[in-house]
Amino acid sequence: MTDDLWTELEQHQPSSLTDLFASDKDRVGRLTLEQSGLRFDLSKTHLDDEVIGLFTNLADHMNLEGATAALFAGAVVNVTEDRAAEHPAERGNGDVSAVANARALQDRMRGLVEAIDAGAMGDIQHILHIGIGGSALGPKLLVDALGRDGARYDVKVVSNIDGAALTEAVKHMDPHKTIVAIASKTFTTTETLLNATSAMEWMRDGGVDDPYAQLIALTAYPEKALEWGIDQSRILPFNEAVGGRYSLWCSIGFPVALGLGWSVYQELLEGAAAMDRHFRNTPALQNAPTMAAFADLYYAQTKGCQTRAVFAYDERLRLLPDYLQQLEMESNGKSVTANGTPLGRKSAPVTWGGVGTDAQHAVFQLLHQGTHLIPVEFVASKTPGHDFDTAHHETLLVNCFAQGAALMAGLKSDNLARNYFGDRPSTTILMDDVTPSTLGALIAFYEHRTFVNAVLLGINPFDQFGVELGKQIAKRISDNGPSGFDPSTSALIEAALGDI
Ligand code: F6P
Repeated sequence: MTDDLWTELEQHQPSSLTDLFASDKDRVGRLTLEQSGLRFDLSKTHLDDEVIGLFTNLADHMNLEGATAALFAGAVVNVTEDRAAEHPAERGNGDVSAVANARALQDRMRGLVEAIDAGAMGDIQHILHIGIGGSALGPKLLVDALGRDGARYDVKVVSNIDGAALTEAVKHMDPHKTIVAIASKTFTTTETLLNATSAMEWMRDGGVDDPYAQLIALTAYPEKALEWGIDQSRILPFNEAVGGRYSLWCSIGFPVALGLGWSVYQELLEGAAAMDRHFRNTPALQNAPTMAAFADLYYAQTKGCQTRAVFAYDERLRLLPDYLQQLEMESNGKSVTANGTPLGRKSAPVTWGGVGTDAQHAVFQLLHQGTHLIPVEFVASKTPGHDFDTAHHETLLVNCFAQGAALMAGLKSDNLARNYFGDRPSTTILMDDVTPSTLGALIAFYEHRTFVNAVLLGINPFDQFGVELGKQIAKRISDNGPSGFDPSTSALIEAALGDI
């Protein structure tokens, strides 16, 4: 049955985008969804009634409704790790006990934020947040997007194990006035623990007698942070059933709560909660994450698109593509179904992107004239994030909309070098403004869209075993040196590290 639906989808011959518009005067209205200060325009995709109907059947067949109910009920949806995925509970939407637990842990975080504000840790001016992957990308995006008008504290996020990253981050920090927040769900991650150790060394070198007194741990394994020497009162635990790439809503969001203020953090959660309710309670045709996932799957699964590109036409969202890369690729970059059988289809496409208008002058050539078909997503805000001449924002938006129009309309020319194929799809997400609430809703939208993609493919989006092998081999190299590897790897190790 599922195979039949995919076959029908594959065989579907879509009309061109311009024909789809010509034959349906209400296309924009029907394929534009509004929710939580966000406008999702899917009309420049090849979704037509037949494609939507087939995906709706597929969603029924894959029991999207049941899977969504299970997600929000706190059932075991991460089957390979025998866990729930309780990030919605952090926003107040989930199993009653998970919501209560999340609230209690958030209250604990609020207590620490208020204590720090009141001077309990001395004259603090800087927050050095150390984490990687899901323990860094969310906080980094949020602080960069929302902290531009003056954060309450100077916040820097360090993730890379390359010491140059830490050097850069602490360059203008006073070690006596710095809190180091060690963010690690597992509290075992090599990069994070080495960076934390070096940050303490930097503090000692700067004359801090007791660096431990300036550490805060954000983790699902508080016992490990305790073992590491962090005082119980400065450990902010979170629920183990919140996945790393879904963890900005819990204590991993500490630099947002402290750096930008508790009300910002609350508004973020409320924005996400509104998107949860929309996703949970809205029929497929009006459901923004579901419809966006239909478009994703249409291109990745039936049109052979191996990548999808996201361009933030707003400097505040410049880190959004980085954030989405982990969310989408770590969740759905898998060749196996949740039942343990081969996927038999394409996994999630590669997510990549950049910032408009910069990207127009660098990579858009390929989008318009290359041989790859790449669905493009534009994310823009109606309201500017600056006070300069309105010409800046007008020109930014004009360019954003022009690119979508150009990709779709193309321009025929007998001179092939000047021919634009057109009929290239794009989606546009237009935000009223970049606020804690709209950004919370946007991120939750992407989470649920990723979930729908996974459910329709039969993938478990909540594990990430693919990252383990490289870590194991890195440990073997560190422990055993160059011997026992392929000749190329051994030679590289010897050339750069000797016998280590
Ligand atoms: O290696 C991948 C990963 O496990 C991500 O899933 C996670 O977000 C990141 O590493 C960091 O893990 P932790 O929060 O446990 O340090």
